[in-house]
Amino acid sequence: MSAASFDACVDTTLAELGAPDGALLPILHAIQAEHGHVPADAVPLIADRLNLSRAEVHGVLSYYHHFRKEPAGKVVVQLCRAEACQAVGAEALAEHARASLGCDFHQTTADGTVTLEPVYCLGQCACGPAMMVGDRVHARLTKEKFDALVERARRQP
Ligand code: FES
Repeated sequence: MSAASFDACVDTTLAELGAPDGALLPILHAIQAEHGHVPADAVPLIADRLNLSRAEVHGVLSYYHHFRKEPAGKVVVQLCRAEACQAVGAEALAEHARASLGCDFHQTTADGTVTLEPVYCLGQCACGPAMMVGDRVHARLTKEKFDALVERARRQP
């Protein structure tokens, strides 16, 4: 990844917005969409382009857990931790996910294949617990279903 590729994300986003006001979050989203995470190298460049301090950019980047500072695994699993899913067993499922994957939320498995992330509602509240594997939503999860879905995603090329 080069500064030029971060610059391109900044240029494109600023062109879409028409002004730098309020551009920080859209730029962070654009860089993560393009690169899979927001590398530390991008922070000074963004700060310069938006006339912000590096601390301001870093503060926003750290505040929102959505933004990854490290590359994600091949499969991103987002497990719903919001209230409706918690009422139907999401916490036990989260414990199972941690144990099964051997990593915590915001971490990637030792083999680099699966990144576990929390998410706060996937619009499946009536049929939780819910999660996303890649860009697909799955509901009415059990521990067995969780394992099967993750294993299937791991095996896909
Ligand atoms: S609370 Fe989990 S999908 Fe809405």
